[in-house]
Amino acid sequence: MTAVDTSGTTPATNTPRPAPSGPPVFAGDVTVRSITEGSGVTVMTFDTPHAFDGTRAGQFMMVSSNRDGAPLLARPMSIIGTEPLEIAFGYQGEGTRLIAAAEPGEKLHLLGPLGDPFPPLGPEVTVVVEGAHFGTMLALCRERHAAGEATRVLFVTRAPEQPAGPVTAGEQDAALMAMFEPYADLTALNGDAVIEALEARHPGVVAAGAFDHVMARVQAWCEAGGVTGYAALQVAMPCGIGACKSCIKKFRDDRYHLVCDGPIFPLEEVAF
Ligand SMILES: Cc1cc2nc3c(=O)[nH]c(=O)nc-3n(C[C@H](O)[C@H](O)[C@H](O)COP(=O)(O)OP(=O)(O)OC[C@H]3O[C@@H](n4cnc5c(N)ncnc54)[C@H](O)[C@@H]3O)c2cc1C
Ligand code: FES
Repeated sequence: MTAVDTSGTTPATNTPRPAPSGPPVFAGDVTVRSITEGSGVTVMTFDTPHAFDGTRAGQFMMVSSNRDGAPLLARPMSIIGTEPLEIAFGYQGEGTRLIAAAEPGEKLHLLGPLGDPFPPLGPEVTVVVEGAHFGTMLALCRERHAAGEATRVLFVTRAPEQPAGPVTAGEQDAALMAMFEPYADLTALNGDAVIEALEARHPGVVAAGAFDHVMARVQAWCEAGGVTGYAALQVAMPCGIGACKSCIKKFRDDRYHLVCDGPIFPLEEVAF
């Protein structure tokens, strides 16, 4: 059970109550500090409630606009930084369009941090990522870089002429790769070349967030070579807290699991 902190401070009380278990989760309106937008990618920072202090790569928050006509449901966004609190996202539909339309000083509603982070991964990590999963993996590369750990990234590009919100996938992929480059040794490649690239590097651990057909190949390669793998999953997530039971993904045990109970899972558990 998680405790919800709406103020960032401890409320005064005369009646002793048992301390809540689990890490604190913030829920409330937070001021947007800065917004940059380019090539269909928006980077947004916020004032940072204390509950986000210990956030780790893989965790996310639910973000929603307070503007009239905004969708009722918040949108999940990976937390890519906490000093200040930071997200980065591509425009998809109405929810992200309205979040991106916020101006500095405007308050957005946040709920987080949510989800389980990556466990410690050790020194030899290769990340496999594409445009839709970039937030989670950028957070991982930044966290490892700050800890003095190197990370190799295999960035699976999309068909360049494919639309990606207001721009082409080629333009957006180029912008996303530039965001990784200060923190990782990045190789851009086609999905068909991922296994060859893994063979050449032979990492000790693979962290992957990509299209299902790429994930299936990476999973098979990890299993054949006894390499530990982690999957960063993404599906539409209406609540983020296990209440709506909508964010389901089939696992190899033939059961449907809630992605918001992750979103980081051992790679061998997921059915792709
Ligand atoms: C844990 C988690 C972390 C995320 N982190 C980031 C991030 O850091 N940066 C980022 O750009 N995006 C991230 N996303 C994806 C982002 O939440 C969705 O793109 C967003 O919710 C879409 O909302 P929308 O209103 O723009 O589009 P909508 O109008 O709600 O949806 C547009 C279309 O996309 C589909 N869709 C919506 N969400 C997803 C999804 N998660 N996966 C696949 N299809 C979806 C819908 O079914 C619909 O067809 C994350 C998702 C999850 C689950
Ligand atoms: S998003 Fe509602 S249960 Fe996972």
